[in-house]
This record gives sequence, C-alpha cells and structure tokens, in this order.
Amino acid sequence: MSERFLAELSVLGGDFEAHLPRQDSLRGGPIVIEDAVERYALRMVNIEKYFGLVCALKNINLDVGRNEIIGLIGDNGAGKSTIVKILTGVFPPTRGELYIAGQKVDLRTYNVKRAHEHGIETVYQDRSLGEKQVLWRNFFIGREITGRFGFINVKKEKAIVSEIMVNTIGFRGKGITVDSSVKLLSGGERQGVAIGRAMHFEAELIILDEPTAALSLKEVRKVINFVHQIKDGGKACIYISHDIQDVYEISDRFIVMDRGEIVASIVKKDMTLKALDEFLLEYSHGLKDKEES
Ligand SMILES: Nc1ncnc2c1ncn2[C@@H]1O[C@H](COP(=O)(O)OP(=O)(O)OP(=O)(O)O)[C@@H](O)[C@H]1O
Ligand SMILES: [Mg+2]
Repeated sequence: MSERFLAELSVLGGDFEAHLPRQDSLRGGPIVIEDAVERYALRMVNIEKYFGLVCALKNINLDVGRNEIIGLIGDNGAGKSTIVKILTGVFPPTRGELYIAGQKVDLRTYNVKRAHEHGIETVYQDRSLGEKQVLWRNFFIGREITGRFGFINVKKEKAIVSEIMVNTIGFRGKGITVDSSVKLLSGGERQGVAIGRAMHFEAELIILDEPTAALSLKEVRKVINFVHQIKDGGKACIYISHDIQDVYEISDRFIVMDRGEIVASIVKKDMTLKALDEFLLEYSHGLKDKEES
C-alpha cells in the first residue's frame, strides 16, 4: 500500500482505549459515558459474534454520531449484516457492549421491539414490508394507533400514511393509495414506504442494508435522496452497499470491514472517491498477495 494512502487513512489501531466508556468497576456503579448523550447515537464496544465455532465479528468498536451517516463497506461475508442484526435485536452478540444514546443496553432482553423503542429502524431490500398486507396496515404493524377501548384508529392511520406518501415519499398518482397491496409496489416504492415509516416513528438511527440492490437507477436515486433527508433531519444512518459511488455521495465517514473486523475508518473530507476506490482495490490486492506468499 502506498504511503499516500496510509497518510490519508486513519486506520484503527491502538488508540481505541480512548473510545471506551469509563467503567467505574470499583464502586460497581453504572457505566458512565461522558458527553455520550450529545455525541453518539450508538456505540458498539468490543463486540464479538460466533456462529458455533465460526467467528463472524471480532473486536468491533464502532461509534455513530448523532447526525452522522456511516457508509459500511466490505466484501461478501465481511460481517456487515451481522452487525445490523445485533443492532436491531435479531440476535445478541456473543460478547461485548452496546450503548444507544449513551445508555447501556441490556443485551439479554434486547430484541426487535426494544430496538424500535430505542429509535432504531432498519430497511432491507424487499424484506421490510409484508407482501400480503395493504400499505397503511403495513406501515403501523406492531405499533398501531389505538383509541381508549383498544380499537385501531383506522382513519388516523390512513391519514398519516397518506400524508407521508405525498410529502415524504413523493408518490405521484399511478393508482397507488393507502389501500393498495404492497405487492403492487416497485422495489423503490417499498423502500420509500419503509424509510417513510422509519422517519415517521422518528428513528434516531436508520440502518439501510443494501436497500438499492436490484433497483432501477431512478429508484436508487430516490433512496439516496431519502438518506440526504435523514442527514438534513438531524438523524443518523448506517448505509450498507456494494456501490462505492453511492456510499461516497451520502456518507460522512466510511467504515471498512474485512473478515469480521473493522480495518479502517475514513472521514470523507480526508479522501476523494477515486482515492477510496483505489484504497479498497489496493487493500484487497494486498490481502491476495499476502495469501499467495
Ligand atoms: N445465522 C448464521 N449462521 C451461521 N453463520 C452465519 C450466519 N449469519 C452470518 N453468518 C456468517 O457470518 C459471516 C458474515 O456474514 P454477513 O451476512 O454479516 O456478511 P455481509 O458483510 O453482510 O456480506 P454480504 O455483503 O454478502 O451481505 C459469513 O461468513 C456468514 O456465513
Ligand atoms: Mg449482508
């Protein structure tokens, strides 16, 4: 790897101690993170994940600022989606700590519902919405607006979805209404609904795991514009994609993963798209050379 790249990079190394929360183990009191409420939407501290004997994540230390867009990059199997699943409560890590908005999360009881309560929303390609349901139902699933007697307030739910469809998602005509079946929506429109939902529930952190895979260029543009809106709205985002150009456009910082580890954290203003592309190429070539020798 050239000296220039090394100089441009802030490769993660020994200074991680400084990022760790101050632990008051002598008094057995709660763990205190100074300034965490203002600074971080999220912190993963020494997270590890094993699937049986396979180590999928090793020593993951990841901070996401309150209004930071993180581009998470890495080859297939690098561990990106495993990070997402831990953050969204799909499964717990084998060890490590998780802090959301400065609060330590009890990983024994953390689940998808808790993640929602903490303001973490996820958008997956095609898997974010139930196919068989109509749009408005899908939007509020598990989080219905109910009246005094526990009945769902259908009118209010439909009105909210309708407003979001027009103002946030920007759906225009084409016969799609709040009563349309999700089956009728294109991939991009589904992503739009999932993102609109995340914004409605005022997610503090929206995670998009390859939201644009198999979308048309126009639809990809829409998703990218949503991420710009997340930034403008003062929220945080983790964006995962194999399209470096898209990742570059929307991210404040790039986290590069390789075989279960974070190998680089690069601030966008420190590196051009071309240099990032070259870095990733040199990095993977460097690994191949090492493997061959
Ligand atoms: N439920 C599981 N059981 C066993 N192994 C798993 C499981 N989920 C992920 N893995 C393994 O963990 C590693 C990381 O997978 P992960 O899905 O996080 O990669 P990724 O970076 O999202 O890759 P891609 O870019 O292909 O989506 C892989 O080796 C994968 O086989
Ligand atoms: Mg993945």
